[in-house]
Amino acid sequence: MPLHVYLLPEPVAADVVVVIDVLRFTSSAAYALAAGARSIATCETVEQARAVAGYRPGTLLAGERQAVKLPGFDLGNSPLEFTPAAVRGRDIAWTTTNGTRAIATALAPRRPAAPPPTERAPHRDLLLASPVNLSAVAALLAPRLGEDAVVAVACSGREGGFALEDAACAGHLVARLRRTLGDALTMNDGARASACIHEAYGEDFARLFRDARHGRWLRDHGFGSDLEACGALDALEVVPRWRDGRFVAG
Ligand code: MLT
Repeated sequence: MPLHVYLLPEPVAADVVVVIDVLRFTSSAAYALAAGARSIATCETVEQARAVAGYRPGTLLAGERQAVKLPGFDLGNSPLEFTPAAVRGRDIAWTTTNGTRAIATALAPRRPAAPPPTERAPHRDLLLASPVNLSAVAALLAPRLGEDAVVAVACSGREGGFALEDAACAGHLVARLRRTLGDALTMNDGARASACIHEAYGEDFARLFRDARHGRWLRDHGFGSDLEACGALDALEVVPRWRDGRFVAG
């Protein structure tokens, strides 16, 4: 039962890919779908997001640069913005600095020198995880691992570098799966390292976000209340899942 964690954004090969951007994209995406948004199209650039919204009238534009809502967009990237009143029944085109890009990076083809670990790799299931839906994600992954699917957890990081909060969340997921599946899991070094980071913080998200560079940055720029929402462990049962080019509630 191969469970691999990638601590930096890179192309991954697996049957199931789980992308994590605790602060804040994958947390906010879970809140949006839990609030009744119909779908989320993730876009690498502002131009792509505008183009996607142009194809489907009524699509909301969401996202940030430097954590701030983009000019002309309907919503920023704060989990607190994605209320039923704002998003119920709506499609969203969403672009962020790290999270939406990490999805594209994780799905990019790997170099020929690093072939996919299974023959089934081209058909992939793609999920979004954060502390807010951790148990729901673990419940989906356990049976897939039981079928010997290769599961890759891709941390979004920050501007191409390491992000402590994403690694800790990946480790939390590893710990949950270890509890269910025990020694049958085969882990790469990233999975083992992330589990150590999770052990250091446990469920103390306030301390984790104080130590994490992006957590401090958000607090210093007036987004302190978002930290509480992003660290609300298992607040939601929704798992954003990729279907026909968009994320929908799974
Ligand atoms: C991102 O995807 O880059 C983050 O969600 C940034 C943010 O906190 O808005």
